[in-house]
Amino acid sequence: MKRTSLAVLALVLMGCSLMSVSHAADPLEPGADRNVIPQGFNDRARIELPSETGTHDAAQVRGLLGGRELIAGTAWCANVCLTQLTREDWKPAITIDATQQGAPISPYIYGQFIEHLGRCIYGGIWAEMLEDRKFYYPITPAYAPYADADAAQQLPVVAASPWQIMGEPDSVTMVEEEPFVGTHSPRIDAGSGICQHDLALVQGQKYVGYVWTRAAGDDAGVVRVALTGADGVWSFPCAGGQYARQAFEFLARESTVHASLSITVEQHPCFVGTVSLMPSDNVEGMRADTMAVLRQLNSPVYRWPGGNFVSGYDWKDGIGDRDRRPPRKNPAWTGVEHNDFGLDEFMAFCRILDTEPYIALNSGLGDAISAVEEVQYATGSAGTPMGAWRARNGHADPYQVKWWSIGNEMYGSWQLGHMSLEDYTRKHNEFAAALRAENPSIQLVAVGDAGPWSEGMLQHCSDSMDLISEHFYCQERPGLTAHVAQIADAVRAKAEAHRGYRERLPMLQGKDIDIALDEWNYWYGPHVFGELGTRYFLQDALGIAGGLHEYTRQSDIMFMANYAQTVNVIGCVKTNKTHASMETTGLVLQLYRAHYGTIPLSAASQAPLDVAAALTADGRTLTVGVVNPTLQPLDLPLQLDGLTLEGTGRRWQIAGSDPLAYNEPGQTPAVTIQESAVEAPFDQLSVASCSVTLFALPVRTE
Ligand code: AHR
Repeated sequence: MKRTSLAVLALVLMGCSLMSVSHAADPLEPGADRNVIPQGFNDRARIELPSETGTHDAAQVRGLLGGRELIAGTAWCANVCLTQLTREDWKPAITIDATQQGAPISPYIYGQFIEHLGRCIYGGIWAEMLEDRKFYYPITPAYAPYADADAAQQLPVVAASPWQIMGEPDSVTMVEEEPFVGTHSPRIDAGSGICQHDLALVQGQKYVGYVWTRAAGDDAGVVRVALTGADGVWSFPCAGGQYARQAFEFLARESTVHASLSITVEQHPCFVGTVSLMPSDNVEGMRADTMAVLRQLNSPVYRWPGGNFVSGYDWKDGIGDRDRRPPRKNPAWTGVEHNDFGLDEFMAFCRILDTEPYIALNSGLGDAISAVEEVQYATGSAGTPMGAWRARNGHADPYQVKWWSIGNEMYGSWQLGHMSLEDYTRKHNEFAAALRAENPSIQLVAVGDAGPWSEGMLQHCSDSMDLISEHFYCQERPGLTAHVAQIADAVRAKAEAHRGYRERLPMLQGKDIDIALDEWNYWYGPHVFGELGTRYFLQDALGIAGGLHEYTRQSDIMFMANYAQTVNVIGCVKTNKTHASMETTGLVLQLYRAHYGTIPLSAASQAPLDVAAALTADGRTLTVGVVNPTLQPLDLPLQLDGLTLEGTGRRWQIAGSDPLAYNEPGQTPAVTIQESAVEAPFDQLSVASCSVTLFALPVRTE
């Protein structure tokens, strides 16, 4: 680094009690030129020590736990890096040549992905408040309540029944004979009951539910349902014979995360078949708060149901009367698949969000017959066997489902049903032939993985696919610029690999197979929001914006991209039990979807800036995206060829001084989209430090 440089030494620390950190620019000099004292945090905290580097090209970090006093605690240093902040001779600018246009940007690059994993569907999208409402796990006397309020807000995936026996330990028995659903139903003695704790209520909110019960003998019992923190107790007669459904509702008197629902039995023993409790504002069974955030996200296409999950999923489990659908062990992940959200619910989800469905078929443990039946269930007329089943379930008209993928990551040893490339190419072709015979209008996406697998799939299956899938995930890298750049680099690497196949493979001559990058994201850090529920930071938002820029630069080959995932699980929307909020990465996806142009233009700047530009379809607006992964605000001279700008434009900015800033459900967001007006002549575009900025500038059209 030159004498004129200012550098920042950045550390990410966790879990210390009180610590003093200092550094000397010259490791040989004993004196520290900066000293900071972080204290008492349990989360990741970024510490910056900016200094003039002078002629030094190294730095020494010293950490002293406790400073001058004796203090107990532990500190972890997650990463340390030295980043150049400013350089007197660095004068970046932006050049845009509107005469150099790329292929139109596919709207499908703004897709999303949801999977039956962790708290994405159950505990994120689906509004059911009760855990294990179908009693997959036997209710036993061994019940361990959650230890603290935090755990209650982010309920862990249950590995044992969340239901507690109220009464004698042997007053509840799991009976396997004629279960209501699944393999057993609880029989509750008179004078006993079951309850579930740590339910979250919002004062003034109404909650609706129901319970299926029947008497365990000839004599009728009475079932009472109560919810602490809410008004009223519901009493129902519980007769023998068939199970009966009894509905109830409650109004919350207070806001709490520790409400309990109890079901007690009097007079004579009764069976409980299943039970449900949802906020009354649920949208066809989906959480109103989550759906509101997903509406803002406004994705044009959603991939479902997995992911690894799909390779063990029997889609028929998710069809028909919801209460009678069997609960199963999630085949690929931890926890229970309640089968409350199946194909019909996914189609309702897409209708409510006005988005297109993209359904993954099980080519792992599944076979072509089941896949064809699934396509027929979705798209066949009511005159076909599966279409008739759909009609009986209340959906007479076929659904419009164009996008279908055959399988997920079949190249990986972790995938259920994983097999060799040679075997899988045969399986893929068998699926494709059967699916196209069922419905020739559907578009098929094949499993790819740049390298021998994608090349082999293209060689042997190019006539049996319309798109080829690719996936990538990036981890955290030390240094903001390196962390940010890796997403765009990964997108470009996928595009370049496929350009190579197009050149090399004779079967691709005259037939371009575009890419569906149907899983892409960062994936690192602790699981704060259930299984794989990692948090995203401002630094990740910058990387995701760079990724979107790269998709637009590769618009001739990138047809679809599905940000993985959406809710909780490595997602751009996070929830606790009562609130949903947009992550930093979600803000970027929302912003570009809403405002970025569709005709890509040649644009350049100086690294580490990432600049992309596109015209809107009507040619009236020039949009310019700028990712600034430095801690330096910049005024960027704009040199524009082939267009003239005029008037008042708009600028949206996602920025902050801390690359580790993040948003938390239920709290005022730390990172937002800030909108402001900008005025012609636009010969200089100003961007904040550590920022994503999108400009929309009016084009003179006469
Ligand atoms: O998105 C999480 C998992 O990552 C998906 O289930 C799988 O396809 C990928 O390995």
